[in-house]
Amino acid sequence: MIRQSRQFFSRWKFLIFGCCVTYLLVFYLPPKDEKVYIEMASQEDEIINKFNEPKALTTNIPLRIEPSLIKKEVFNFNPVGKEPFFVEEVMTDSPIKLAERMKCNVKKGEKRVILSWNAGHSQENLNGCKDWNCEYTHDRSKVAEAAAVLLSHQDPSFIRQSLDQYVIYFSQQDYFNMSLGFRHDTAASSPYGYTVKLGPKSRKTGEIVDKKVVEGKSKGAAWFVSHCSTNSRREAFVHELQKHFPVDIYGGCGTLKCQRNTLCESMLDTDYHFYVAFENSICKDYNTEKLWRQGFQRTIIPLVLKRSLAEPFVPPNSFLAVDDYKTVEEMAQHMQYLMKNHTAYMEYFEWQKDYKVVFLDGSNHDVLERPWGFCQVCRLVWEQPRQYHVIEKWSKFWQESCEKDGSLVNTILAGSL
Ligand SMILES: *[C@@H]1O[C@H](CO)[C@@H](O)[C@H](O)[C@H]1NC(C)=O
Ligand SMILES: *[C@@H]1O[C@H](CO)[C@@H](O)[C@H](O)[C@H]1NC(C)=O
Repeated sequence: MIRQSRQFFSRWKFLIFGCCVTYLLVFYLPPKDEKVYIEMASQEDEIINKFNEPKALTTNIPLRIEPSLIKKEVFNFNPVGKEPFFVEEVMTDSPIKLAERMKCNVKKGEKRVILSWNAGHSQENLNGCKDWNCEYTHDRSKVAEAAAVLLSHQDPSFIRQSLDQYVIYFSQQDYFNMSLGFRHDTAASSPYGYTVKLGPKSRKTGEIVDKKVVEGKSKGAAWFVSHCSTNSRREAFVHELQKHFPVDIYGGCGTLKCQRNTLCESMLDTDYHFYVAFENSICKDYNTEKLWRQGFQRTIIPLVLKRSLAEPFVPPNSFLAVDDYKTVEEMAQHMQYLMKNHTAYMEYFEWQKDYKVVFLDGSNHDVLERPWGFCQVCRLVWEQPRQYHVIEKWSKFWQESCEKDGSLVNTILAGSL
């Protein structure tokens, strides 16, 4: 009997051993990190992190399946005074994806100091990430303790305390680790607005835009503008466009008036088909409230100068770009066509099913700012080991950002003659 069982064990020991190891691996292996995982079987469930309830961040459900098979994490954005929504990703060409931006290795009972040496701002700018325990101070005696120092201009009385200390700002100096500017290729990037891919539960189906509203529109393009002579020479383009397509100019550079932030702006929904969202300079990643607010918060198709500057950051098929056309006339013809074909016009709003555009107006510092700017500085100062960030040559970083004055508009106007 004993011999038999010995024989059995020696014959099958590898198999038995293998089974035990598999069992242990499957049921007792701790999850690889702090992420909250949910099994594939529950297709309807999303993996959700709630930022109004930081406790949810520490929930651990043991990992039982291949990480590659796991559904994308979804984040619950609950902005002050606005409808909450679920976010799967932010549209950026930065390698830092949303999941990384939203989680911080904050240590219980500790804090990190961010010193504003001469850069203004306040603790409120960190309201989108209160649970990350960063203290914002103007007290220069805390310079040695500060994990990050913000400068709005170089000041000889500030001395970098260690190479672990992030020195952050933008000015023409080869000195900084990041900038709080609009460019996405810096870890503390602070855009004027951004696009999110919605989580499955926040996506919409059916009719997005009321067809009656579109049918009620009768006017061409509107442009709100007060800066009449610009580096991009957008004004030259608009004047040429006006020869082929109706563009109404409101504000200091035109004849029409519409008070900003008033009901008057609702004509962008009801009357106009297109909004001129041309920037005064053509610079890398430079998209301002013209695009994020008037352009995308309304039922209107925004016009931009250069496709490649907007495309990585905005919803798909959501705008027209001047540099898509060989001539001004060709663009005007396409716009005429879209005014006549309501089906084709409405295709430019399909994105609203799966995406949402956020305009950061700064009125509330809340979860909408969590993936950017100050909150990202706060997140980075908790990283261990310290991540290395440096803007090698500021002047180059800055100069290469913008196109030569008027180059794009001059080219298209020359081609249109
Ligand atoms: C109108 O637009 C739709 C969608 O793009 C297209 O399928 C249709 O052929 C267009 N109709 C005309 C008359 O051009
Ligand atoms: C910050 O930038 C400096 C160069 O300006 C570099 O030497 C230092 O290592 C950087 N520190 C971090 C934490 O990235």
